[in-house]
Amino acid sequence: MTELEKLREECLNCTRCPLWETRTNVVFGVGPGDAKVMFIGEGPGEHEDLQGEPFVGRGGKLLDDMLELIDLDRSKVYIANMVKCRPPKNRDPLPEEQMACSGWLSRQLELINPRIIVCLGRIAAMRFIKPDFKITREHGQWFEKDGRRVMALYHPAALLRDPNKRPETFDDLKRIQAAIAAL
Ligand code: URA
Ligand code: SF4
Repeated sequence: MTELEKLREECLNCTRCPLWETRTNVVFGVGPGDAKVMFIGEGPGEHEDLQGEPFVGRGGKLLDDMLELIDLDRSKVYIANMVKCRPPKNRDPLPEEQMACSGWLSRQLELINPRIIVCLGRIAAMRFIKPDFKITREHGQWFEKDGRRVMALYHPAALLRDPNKRPETFDDLKRIQAAIAAL
């Protein structure tokens, strides 16, 4: 068993915050243990909770389409969330829940050690880029953090709500494609 598999086994039993009481499944994350690119969302929704996999609902289908636009697919990248259990009624994860859960994602980052991190939405960008991150102004910009390149995209759910944001997101994706090609 790899370290990452061991971490997953441990995480599946986690009771570090109250979200464990209402979850169906822990959504640890999926992808190759040596992925060069890691996508980080906010937290599982209903479909993710039921299936134990990140981004499998409508937003997930859109994420797959976005990846395909730049010749990527799920099997080549790692996909995880800030919190591993679904907040009831899809409310935003509370700061204390994010704090309690952060150790799991930190270990995933250490073990996978991706060269590029793509934050899906503002919540992940606030943690991985800066606390006052402004998604409308700063999506698509590269930041340097701990020797990694980090960018935020609009969250797929935001792109479903507002298709006008899609052309900008296409440009952002192209920048990710260029950064991957340059690795
Ligand atoms: N939204 C997220 O942020 N993560 C998921 O896994 C699904 C929807
Ligand atoms: Fe544990 Fe994170 Fe689930 Fe809370 S959300 S129970 S910290 S895995």
